Amino acid sequence: MKFLALLAAASIQQLASRQAKSLSSNFTWKSTGPLIGPKDDGRNLAGIKDPTIVEINGTYHVFSSTSQLAGYNMVYFSFTDFEKAGSAEFHYLDQSPIGTGYRAAPEVFFFEPHGLWYLIYQNGNAAYSTNKNISDPLGWTAPTNFYPNGRPAIISENIGAGYWVDMWVICDKTTCHLFSSDDNGQLYRSETPIGDFPKGMSEPVIALQGKKEDLFEAVCIHRITDDQYLLVIEAIGATGERYFRSFTSNRIAEGWKPLAATEENPFAGAANVEFEGTPWTKSISHGEIIRTHLDQTLTIDPCKLRFLYQGLDPALNSGEYNALPWRLALITQTNSAC
Ligand SMILES: *[C@@H]1O[C@H](CO)[C@@H](O)[C@H](O)[C@H]1NC(C)=O
Ligand SMILES: *[C@@H]1O[C@H](CO)[C@@H](O)[C@H](O)[C@H]1NC(C)=O
Ligand SMILES: *[C@@H]1O[C@H](CO)[C@@H](O)[C@H](O)[C@H]1NC(C)=O
Repeated sequence: MKFLALLAAASIQQLASRQAKSLSSNFTWKSTGPLIGPKDDGRNLAGIKDPTIVEINGTYHVFSSTSQLAGYNMVYFSFTDFEKAGSAEFHYLDQSPIGTGYRAAPEVFFFEPHGLWYLIYQNGNAAYSTNKNISDPLGWTAPTNFYPNGRPAIISENIGAGYWVDMWVICDKTTCHLFSSDDNGQLYRSETPIGDFPKGMSEPVIALQGKKEDLFEAVCIHRITDDQYLLVIEAIGATGERYFRSFTSNRIAEGWKPLAATEENPFAGAANVEFEGTPWTKSISHGEIIRTHLDQTLTIDPCKLRFLYQGLDPALNSGEYNALPWRLALITQTNSAC
């Protein structure tokens, strides 16, 4: 009897903690103003974009694209307080073995089996660099391509007038998955056994397909539990503003079902983000949920999500896309179920 009662108590507790830790089915957020932009340092950057972010013992480590008409590269900076993020020192990764030229849209994680940090990014292919020390911006290795034979055929067949962008790696216990987008309605997925990572990525398959505007780019996939994964992807709204849609599945490979996935009820967009005063941006564009769990499972706590994103002053939204003055800002979930 006592044993049974204990069991019942344990499972009630388990149920309660499971409920307390569940992902919301709809989201509301509040945003800061723009926090991080280019510095007056002679580089003449137009935008700071596409952030990936982890928090380690109270320090935030951010890798972002740098953009200007001439093209893209990446920057690293760290800070302990978002209010002072704008004054964090920039370390441009073109000074490291990553080198100059087209490199953009980074994702950072710690690959536990190798004891190394991986930076995943686009360079015309899907590339990675590794580093023992996330704080050492010069410690990254030169780019290695995931697809040694160049752009896979399935992408060339579907890309139309799009671009092959926004690579994202996430691993479960057995497999590492590499996602990418074609800015033309396809989300692709390759895989390799975790023991072979980073080598051996398979020919991609189409993981999600739809209208270009609905499945545009900037995918992020996170593990909530072994049975629940969250996928967010950037979409283009009715008047051209960017917002995020969300999907969930019980596995990474397939089975994605819409969660909050419309412009009216987005994961994050003008419809559900509150600003102080006049919104500084109408777009909630390329960004990432802050991770405190650092490994290749990209596990997040579904409570009180924080999302570092890029936004754009609507008054400055004209001219060449690469020269637009994107800035980074933070949204914090206000309707967390836990
Ligand atoms: C939002 O989700 C909560 C439960 O998570 C639900 O009670 C509420 O009705 C939802 N609101 C909308 C507008 O869908
Ligand atoms: C965080 O700090 C603790 C205590 O100083 C240390 O043991 C741990 O290794 C640190 N974690 C990381 C990921 O650096
Ligand atoms: C990591 O790199 C930073 C910056 O170069 C350096 O200050 C720190 O000592 C390094 N940590 C280790 C463990 O080497």
